Amino acid sequence: MNAPPLGKGIVDATLKCPWDADAACHWPRVTHSLRRHNEKQLASRACSSFAHKKSLSLEALQLQMRKYQAKMHPSTLQLREGMASKAELESWLQVAETFAGEAHTVCEIGLNGGDSAAAWLCSFPRASYVSFDLARFNVTTDAADFLSTAFPGRFTLVRGSTLATLPQYARAHPRSCDIMIVDGGHSLEVGYSDLSYMRMLARDPTRHVVVMDDVRCAAWWCHSPTIAWSYLVQEGVIREEGCLNDACCSGWCWGRYDLTAPQPAASGICGPPGIEHHRNTSTFMRRFVPHCRARAKRKFPNSSSIRIAREGAGHDDRSSLPGEVDVVNKQVT
Ligand SMILES: C[S@@+](CC[C@H](N)C(=O)[O-])C[C@H]1O[C@@H](n2cnc3c(N)ncnc32)[C@H](O)[C@@H]1O
Repeated sequence: MNAPPLGKGIVDATLKCPWDADAACHWPRVTHSLRRHNEKQLASRACSSFAHKKSLSLEALQLQMRKYQAKMHPSTLQLREGMASKAELESWLQVAETFAGEAHTVCEIGLNGGDSAAAWLCSFPRASYVSFDLARFNVTTDAADFLSTAFPGRFTLVRGSTLATLPQYARAHPRSCDIMIVDGGHSLEVGYSDLSYMRMLARDPTRHVVVMDDVRCAAWWCHSPTIAWSYLVQEGVIREEGCLNDACCSGWCWGRYDLTAPQPAASGICGPPGIEHHRNTSTFMRRFVPHCRARAKRKFPNSSSIRIAREGAGHDDRSSLPGEVDVVNKQVT
């Protein structure tokens, strides 16, 4: 594992593999004391917010953001989606500081209530931050307003499903990011597409890092991101540098893209296109495909076969559970 700041409080834990009950999975897990340490570190990170004209702690800035969100939409403040835990977020920041150093641009999928965005903007005070989100909740649009004011000229929100927006953005701004975080939709379709297109954004072949959330944990929301991540690692598109697991319910991995590898093909109805024909498909992939097809069949009982969906059809994946087939544009024969 190549993560110097995290070296001490890590234990090797055995968890049940989400995709294969017979397999024993040994995943490095953070200990309670490291979690506490990370939480304290995060809270004390300093923010120099131009708009506030003074340095304040990240915690204080996040509190101000919550107050703003509550004032703008008192009835809808509740976060409807999850957010990275404090210990996890601190781990992402440490990994990024180690791998990408002085970053020019941080690109993150998943803004939600703006907590991770605030942490990136504070921790990389000279960097621009580009966020991709469906922005369907008031907390998200209010977070975007707050962050644009607090960090003038540094915050951008690209609204809409990344199935449509990310390929477009990547073609218009290739090689424009140093730190890439994937924490958006949790279906295989979206996870695979996000991770694949983020590669086009990596600026420097070695000084960049990609972090993916909800990978290698036992909870159901980690299933599809884990498959997407593992597939691209197996394909040589990503060189995994480390993974950590925080009890049952959260896990994250980080690594670098191999920019000499071919750009992965666009995603299909069951995730990576042609996955079922792939020679190197691992056991869990082979197990996943029949499951995926069975679900597709239930959605389209009258179709005899299911074709791969078009790239970038653009949809909102809020209703799909991880591992469920994303029916993008119902191309069935
Ligand atoms: C887990 S939350 C992000 C949390 C945030 N990174 C944090 O730690 O504070 C996931 C976000 O992804 C967004 N999302 C889900 N599916 C998406 C898609 N297909 N395209 C863009 N954003 C999506 C949701 O709107 C939600 O705000």
